[in-house]
Amino acid sequence: MSQPSDPRKGYTHFGFEEVPVGDKQKRVGSVFSSVASKYDVMNDLMSMGVHRIWKRFAIDLAGVRAGERVLDVAGGTGDLAREFRKAAGPKGFVALADINAEMLGQGRERLADKGVVDVPLIQANAEKLPFAEGSFDCITIGFGLRNVTDKDAALASMTKALKPGGRLLVLEFSKPLNAGLSKVYDQYSFKLLPLMGRLVANDADSYRYLAESIRMHPDQATLKGMMENAGLSRVQVYNLTGGIVAVHRGYNLG
Ligand SMILES: C[S@@+](CC[C@H](N)C(=O)[O-])C[C@H]1O[C@@H](n2cnc3c(N)ncnc32)[C@H](O)[C@@H]1O
Repeated sequence: MSQPSDPRKGYTHFGFEEVPVGDKQKRVGSVFSSVASKYDVMNDLMSMGVHRIWKRFAIDLAGVRAGERVLDVAGGTGDLAREFRKAAGPKGFVALADINAEMLGQGRERLADKGVVDVPLIQANAEKLPFAEGSFDCITIGFGLRNVTDKDAALASMTKALKPGGRLLVLEFSKPLNAGLSKVYDQYSFKLLPLMGRLVANDADSYRYLAESIRMHPDQATLKGMMENAGLSRVQVYNLTGGIVAVHRGYNLG
């Protein structure tokens, strides 16, 4: 897997394309504005429902307890925030941040449909979170980090917002551990995903970006190193579905 270009040198990846840093955020914004209304249905279709199991694993690993303060970054339609809201209980606090207004709109509706009305939804860039240092016991980012232009900045910003002892969980597509699985997965992502995108959401390009952005995302070991560089300790990696997805968990131990 080739590694992402260095956004601090002015260039980064948008899928397989090399683009000026200033363009990536806009183009990612167009992808999510375009897919927002079909996001949940496409997630179920593309992963054959398995994204629910991946999310369940991350939620359990987050181990949110009553009274804790939790932030879900790039929270989209609120699947993680909804579960954290239950776990944190009446004395806890759960917020959802996302850069995209359309995704936040979908999130607000989905949460309200499930009777969750006490999760503030905040429009914010993961690279520059608008929270005081040490605000949260737990921060999560689910299938969001690969879309962020400056991933190191986002990891630093999330780490800073953690209380001492707080944990960050990154749930993200990763690198299959086995060459056979990799081959099948490539066929699926580059042939079937754009086709489904075209048939169901009338948008093959966004789903091609999805497949490409997954391939360009740092693999398990690279992301672990990036989290350590951001100041997190005891970073552990949990591979799911043969490494198609991984959860990284690290602690802010100062
Ligand atoms: C694939 S969705 C994941 C949504 C949700 N976490 C889930 O797992 O279903 C990626 C989300 O990341 C958001 N996003 C992209 N770049 C971001 C950034 N720089 N800061 C915050 N959110 C961002 C998008 O708007 C989108 O809602």
